[in-house]
Amino acid sequence: MAISLQPNELAAKFPTLDEIPAAYRISAPLHQREILINGELRHWGGPVRTVRSPVHVRTRDGALEAVEVGSYPVTTATESDQALDAASKAYASGTGEWPTMGVDRRISHVQDFTRRLIEKREQIVNLIMWEIGKSAADSAKEFDRTVEYIRQTIDALKELDNNNSRFQIVEGTIAQIRRAPLGVVLCMGPYNYPLNETFTTLIPALIMGNVILFKPPKFGTLLFAPILEAFRDSFPAGVVNTVYGPGEEVVPPLMESGQVNVLALIGSSRVADKLKKLHPKTNRLRAVLGLDAKNAAIILPDADLDLTVKECVLGALSFNGQRCTALKTILVHRSVADAFLAKFCAALEGLQIGMPWEKGVAITPLPDAGKPGYLSECIDDAKKHGAEVRNIGGGEYCASLYVPALVYPVNERMRLYREEQFGPIVPVVPFDNIEDALSYVESSDYGQQVSIFGTDAETIATLVDPLVNQVCRVNINCQCQRGPDVFPFTGRKDSAEGTLSVADALRAFSIRTMVAAKETPASKALLDDIVLGHKSAFINTRYIF
Ligand code: G3H
Repeated sequence: MAISLQPNELAAKFPTLDEIPAAYRISAPLHQREILINGELRHWGGPVRTVRSPVHVRTRDGALEAVEVGSYPVTTATESDQALDAASKAYASGTGEWPTMGVDRRISHVQDFTRRLIEKREQIVNLIMWEIGKSAADSAKEFDRTVEYIRQTIDALKELDNNNSRFQIVEGTIAQIRRAPLGVVLCMGPYNYPLNETFTTLIPALIMGNVILFKPPKFGTLLFAPILEAFRDSFPAGVVNTVYGPGEEVVPPLMESGQVNVLALIGSSRVADKLKKLHPKTNRLRAVLGLDAKNAAIILPDADLDLTVKECVLGALSFNGQRCTALKTILVHRSVADAFLAKFCAALEGLQIGMPWEKGVAITPLPDAGKPGYLSECIDDAKKHGAEVRNIGGGEYCASLYVPALVYPVNERMRLYREEQFGPIVPVVPFDNIEDALSYVESSDYGQQVSIFGTDAETIATLVDPLVNQVCRVNINCQCQRGPDVFPFTGRKDSAEGTLSVADALRAFSIRTMVAAKETPASKALLDDIVLGHKSAFINTRYIF
């Protein structure tokens, strides 16, 4: 179905209750009344927040109603403090059971957790879909990618640990060097990949021997409810603890306590900046951050436009443009702008707009109720400064369904030029000289990725060399993206701090530490005794298969 729709046609895209396929229906709302602190699922009798889906249903009188998914506890700073206390006790300045446990045993705990997680696959995938409106196919992909990420993490840790399972002798010093945990990690993931991006920090942090305070994102909270028991049963008490409640209320006291050793946040640079400054001993705080981005596509005059449009549609509009890696500005050489816009409009016409369970759906309801209004303000602002929406119906919306808008020509006076829209608007900026395209990227506050579309090797090489010093991934003739997860995912400027690939994340959540002794017969005998007697989790030459 084409997406050039009138608002009443958009309303008709929402189902009646009966039209929701049985396989995806919410049989009963999930009312979570437990929080995980110190290895206990504690009953919560206080205030709760109702979760309403971005998916609406049409009622008999023609109104649209957001579907109730369930509710979850809104805890206070008191419960966060209890969670912090439990985590600190479990870590016990690095002397706790979990941080001193051998790597092979920690891996077994994570494997046990993964088995329990997989048992909940169907329920979690359905909750991702209902809570954030991600298509059923992509929700399933998110789950499976996460499980695969955990498996890859386990393999990477085995390799890392096995490589360190030996002594080195340099200049008369015998040493064994391993990676050790950092302490209490506060993990906060984003709403667009609530499971995957939370776990790409939580799992490496956990498996390296840290203890976790985990705050679910603002949308995509309930999907963690089915996992709480698995956390409780797979790890020693206090190793994983939950924090609910409004972020601005419950998170600052955690940072002010000085007891958080690592802030792992996938979110906005504004929030990260504020939180870091609250820590009383900033030198003790490590930050692992995935932040804002405004990735650009640069389309050269000799680009293969069919391929370019295909990649740019995917890059700009997968999950409605709600990806940190999305293409958020398209810079097109003026000589091919008209042809590009025509092909892009045609591609937009072919995108299916609808409910997340529909096969082949591309555009689905947006979880943030304020987003359609914000996007429309951006379009109005662009129109005021001379741009127009090029595709029929672009920018129309009904409740949470928003028709993607191709906006052209965008210039520096418009909000869309610099603001990260994080939604289904595609701002297109024409350029005449390659230097202008380069200077857009150079003068940006963000530095995550860029995509170049063209066929001339010399021009592309000329662009790549300056761009690799502006961003952390230059994509040639393809959209920006995070994966494959073994590749480094990071950014410059206000886009990231630290690197998150499968292997890099293990390093980000640990520090190298070593045991050293003089190369004397007495030292050798002593170390032999420890190794052969299996007396230490650190000093050993065990190989983990
Ligand atoms: O939101 C940011 C995600 O890390 C993007 O991941 O490029 O695989 O969609 P993706």
